[in-house]
Amino acid sequence: MMLKVDNLSKSFGRLKAVDDISFDIKKGEIFGLLGENGAGKTTTIKMLATLLRPDNGSIALNGEDVWRNRYLARQNMAIVSQEMNLEYELTVYEALHTYCLLRNKRNAKKEIENMLERLNIADKRNERTGALSGGQKRRVMTARALLSGAGMIFMDEPTIGLDPMIRREMWDIINSIKAEGRSILLTTHYTDEAEYLCGRVAIMEKGRIIHMNTPDSLINQAGTYALDINGTGQAKTMLFSDSLLLNDYLSVHNFEEYRVRRTKLEDVLISYGKSA
Ligand SMILES: Nc1ncnc2c1ncn2[C@@H]1O[C@H](COP(=O)(O)OP(=O)(O)OP(=O)(O)O)[C@@H](O)[C@H]1O
Ligand SMILES: [Mg+2]
Repeated sequence: MMLKVDNLSKSFGRLKAVDDISFDIKKGEIFGLLGENGAGKTTTIKMLATLLRPDNGSIALNGEDVWRNRYLARQNMAIVSQEMNLEYELTVYEALHTYCLLRNKRNAKKEIENMLERLNIADKRNERTGALSGGQKRRVMTARALLSGAGMIFMDEPTIGLDPMIRREMWDIINSIKAEGRSILLTTHYTDEAEYLCGRVAIMEKGRIIHMNTPDSLINQAGTYALDINGTGQAKTMLFSDSLLLNDYLSVHNFEEYRVRRTKLEDVLISYGKSA
């Protein structure tokens, strides 16, 4: 087990931002943390990365409590945070080099060069990070986290604002991190991404984990047949676990326009939102 989280909670005043959540992440697993804006995902990641002290609960990395010796824990974890946090006066190369020095990595020149290539930003090495586009900044932040060599990487919406091509390149990079046996905690609002990348996902709602499973199991539980109904003045999607039930439903109703397809993780999330 790479990371084990038990009964973690954090309140801000009267708001329970994270409310008694437990989960674990295996070595080489990509674990997704999903949920609506304000569900508590970033607050959770900040506690795991020892940037925010929990009110309650425990976090163990490789069996060691992270808050007991957080300097030790930090050596084996890295974060790509939701907010941009680059030194905008530094060039891309300098930013990565400085990070390596802070991490006590000397002679990292070759590794930095490889990372620039891996993240497709080699041609930007001498640009100030402040002059980069949003997607390029995000890639520098990812390069930095990977240079740490950490076994546990927290990625808080690493693909937000990336164009579709670059987003897929990022998926390859995330998969390659996994292939190196490292573990990733990923938050995203792109459910296709979670479905593609994550071994398991936890769905948060108002600080609690309401469901946790593989994307396929969540889809199976919700019903694998999705019926999109249009042209009735109220476009909607309904989920069915059984083609017979679906056909019964269709024969009773006489929809002018509809489409049947396989359920996506996105439909599952929306169905939870509705029943809440
Ligand atoms: N420092 C803070 N002080 C007070 N309230 C906070 C603080 N940080 C977060 N919150 C509140 O805690 C709740 C959870 O916020 P959090 O950033 O963890 O959500 P999130 O799931 O990451 O959302 P998003 O998808 O929008 O990034 C929100 O209601 C937020 O307003
Ligand atoms: Mg967030």
